Amino acid sequence: MKSILLHQRFFCFIFLISLSISAQNKSERDLILIDKDWTFNFGHQYDTEKDFGHATGYFSYLTKTGFGDGPAAQGFDDRAWRKLDLPHDWAVEQSFSEKASFSHGFKTAGKGFPEKNIGWYRKKISIPEKDNGKIISLKFDGVFRNSKVFFNGYYLGTEQSGYNGFEYDVTAYVNYGGENTIVVRVDASMEEGWFYEGAGIYRHVYLQKTNPIHVVTNGTYVTSEIKNDNAEVTAQVTIQNKGNYKGKIEVIQNIIDASGKQIATFTENATASEFYKTANYTSKLNVKNPLLWDIESPNLYKLVTHIQQNGKIIDSYETSFGIRTIKFDAEKGFFLNGKPIKLKGTNNHQDHAGIGTALPDELQYFRIKKLKEMGSNAYRCSHHPPTPELLKACDELGMLVIDETRLMGINDYHLNDLKRMLEQDRNHPSIFCWSVGNEEWNIEGGIVGERITNVMQEFTKSIDTTRPVTVGISSGFRSGISSVVEIMGYNYLGNGDIEAHRNQFKQQPGMGTEEGSTFATRGIYFTDDAKHYQSAYDRKPRPSFYSIEEGWKFYAERPYLAGVFFWTGFDYRGEPTPYGWPSVTSYFGMMDVCGFPKDNVYYLKSWWGSKPVLHIMPHWNWSGMEGKEIDVWVHSNCDEVELFLNKKSLGKKKMEVNSHLEWKVTYTPGTLEAIGYKNGKKILTETKKTTGIAENIQLSLDKENSLNANVSVVTVEVTDKKGLHVPTANNEISFSVKGGKILGVGNGNPTSLESDKFIDNIELLAINNFEEKKLTSADLTDQIINDSENNWLPAFKDRDYKNQASSYVYRGKFELVNNLKNNTVNFFYKKIGTSTVVFVNGNKVAPSTEDPHKYTFPATILKQGPNTIQIIAPPLQKVKDWDVMNTDPGIIQVITPAEEWKRKLFNGYAQIIIQKDENNSEVILSASAKGLKPGTLVKK
Ligand code: GAL
Repeated sequence: MKSILLHQRFFCFIFLISLSISAQNKSERDLILIDKDWTFNFGHQYDTEKDFGHATGYFSYLTKTGFGDGPAAQGFDDRAWRKLDLPHDWAVEQSFSEKASFSHGFKTAGKGFPEKNIGWYRKKISIPEKDNGKIISLKFDGVFRNSKVFFNGYYLGTEQSGYNGFEYDVTAYVNYGGENTIVVRVDASMEEGWFYEGAGIYRHVYLQKTNPIHVVTNGTYVTSEIKNDNAEVTAQVTIQNKGNYKGKIEVIQNIIDASGKQIATFTENATASEFYKTANYTSKLNVKNPLLWDIESPNLYKLVTHIQQNGKIIDSYETSFGIRTIKFDAEKGFFLNGKPIKLKGTNNHQDHAGIGTALPDELQYFRIKKLKEMGSNAYRCSHHPPTPELLKACDELGMLVIDETRLMGINDYHLNDLKRMLEQDRNHPSIFCWSVGNEEWNIEGGIVGERITNVMQEFTKSIDTTRPVTVGISSGFRSGISSVVEIMGYNYLGNGDIEAHRNQFKQQPGMGTEEGSTFATRGIYFTDDAKHYQSAYDRKPRPSFYSIEEGWKFYAERPYLAGVFFWTGFDYRGEPTPYGWPSVTSYFGMMDVCGFPKDNVYYLKSWWGSKPVLHIMPHWNWSGMEGKEIDVWVHSNCDEVELFLNKKSLGKKKMEVNSHLEWKVTYTPGTLEAIGYKNGKKILTETKKTTGIAENIQLSLDKENSLNANVSVVTVEVTDKKGLHVPTANNEISFSVKGGKILGVGNGNPTSLESDKFIDNIELLAINNFEEKKLTSADLTDQIINDSENNWLPAFKDRDYKNQASSYVYRGKFELVNNLKNNTVNFFYKKIGTSTVVFVNGNKVAPSTEDPHKYTFPATILKQGPNTIQIIAPPLQKVKDWDVMNTDPGIIQVITPAEEWKRKLFNGYAQIIIQKDENNSEVILSASAKGLKPGTLVKK
């Protein structure tokens, strides 16, 4: 018995010791995602009243610290504002107009829409007393654009570009043990690109807490050198001391492999730097038999940097990295880990159907997987630095990346942005090349371009020595930028003589940074300019430009060209070339804005991928075309393909490498069948069948979705009675969801002006003609004071605060455009008396249970047009003479619920993006349409 007790005590002791060790070793760093529960409202670009009077005070936030006014003030009442979670793109929520920007997909926000240019975001967070002494900062991954951030009314700074991550130290302004307010004013009135850029806080936001001695953000730089079977890893770290500690610290660098095992460690004894100074430490660590990062096996390691002070870990900072070598050779192209790799790339913007630029992380993985599925191994971030999650997805999935800065130049604006991109992104093994510019028409062929490139290139080398620099160049090959850039980036065969350039600059490696720019509408096989339809057969976009096949052949045949990046992987909003309004998305993508493949995907998959491919185009539903000739193309990497119509052979053809096959087929409904042969053996069969009419809705989870993710991409299609997909269907489908929400809908139709999102409309109404009358009794009556029209005076005008009446009755008007039964009308009262009774059109209204200053007015007492609100309240008294008393009774909020979610199919497909609530075990999506059997999908 005694021994059992002793044992128990011993285990207890060990447990307590290990608890205290782990508490000691817990770093003080916390990175808390604060995307949830923001409020949002539109301000105004130049009408200060509509911008809530912001920056109109006698002293502004730039004259006296802490003088943020309007919504920037901590106490601003935002209860009536819309509530939302980030990431958020308000541009995608807007309707379309011909007057809006061609580049931005004709969405009625941004340039020329002053009412939809300024977005205000507010969020309250509590920070406990125990954090006093830590460094507290706000981290933004990117806000489009020109954002001003305030914290508890203190102005923190302005970030102009929509593509930079930025951070503000708020330590001095924190209300420890209480509530704190973050406010962001976003000004999207200018464009930085000529493509859709969205608007708002479209990337993540974090609250960060660290010890005063800490690794600075993006403060590590990990490089490696492979020698025989070892990798010598150089880990540099920048540590800042924002406190008063003077003395010893230890900098511990550990390398952890993918299984979580520590495989290398190094400790350096150091002295903490001076107050607010930084110091750099460099350690060498050895990794034996490293698992290299490559596109097939994207092996990753983690560097964990600890700072230890008096035996206690005070900071831990993780850096994901990969070990690999890259090399460009002017003769032989690009090498990854010593192996030649032809770059099979696409250019892409950060825009997706239904959600615009506010991509949930899952969508980054979805899109990169789609590109990999096509056989692509490289991605160009055109034309700006991406969100960190995109690079994370590329690291983890094995996709090479060109990371590009937004604007060329040699001044702070340009070099500081470039520096931030380099420091933020340089540990990603996926990045193999930096790009410092794209098609700078003004300078690319001349001396200014040459000078700027020289500076940007050398500047880049001063921050990252391990990757080369390119620029996408579209004119003036053999001069200007192209004569000095390290890796020549050819934008289009049609723009110049690539061979002539190469013959003159034999030592300069090169790649096609853009090629193609062909036009295709998914599922369309006849060009019809009246309908803005571009046939999906791979044809030259203009006489002097090249098809995807011509482009690929050119690059594939020339080993000295490292590879090519087609314009683009996915369609995107804006640049609806060759059309304009009412086309709102581009036609360039190999896939449409949803990621549904156009037929070129199969061409590329045939010659880029490693799996056998057999694809027939077009579909075989051509009612009305009976007896007429149709072009049938087959994309395949088989040696030979035989085509059959209704079992009758139309001939066997030999496939040339990097090519496709064509037949002219007289249309008869039935089955078109292709049989693919490799080494004389049948290996694949593919059919296109004439289908019956649409009968059933089918919902399916796209296979590129990440498992266990909350956000899923769902394919919506219709099938005939035999279950065959109907490729011409364009039924309108309605959706509803349980256990989650819908984030967006799309269908890949460039001319669709349907809504991407269905969200409640919130209108805020001011109370006008606010008047008052003195009352003799302080009692709050339940009866409306049915007094005469006499003696009403403008409320609070010339109020003598020393001689106030014992009570006042106030009245004002608000105007309802309509009084729909489904609307919710809330009154957010702001205190103008010690206690209050509210009447609307003579009816007393009780406050809501959740907030004593919120009243919900039932439709039965409201009317369309003018409504009267009366408030009876004993007045507030001034404590000090200079107290400024509230005279604003509050605001009326009218919520009109969103219409039901719906979308038309486009050539057989639509897409819906759903998000499961974190606390639910499943989300159920239901779809219905007139005349079709409904569909349901359950996602666990
Ligand atoms: C290129 C440009 C791209 C895109 C494309 C459309 O000149 O670099 O951003 O605009 O043309 O064809």
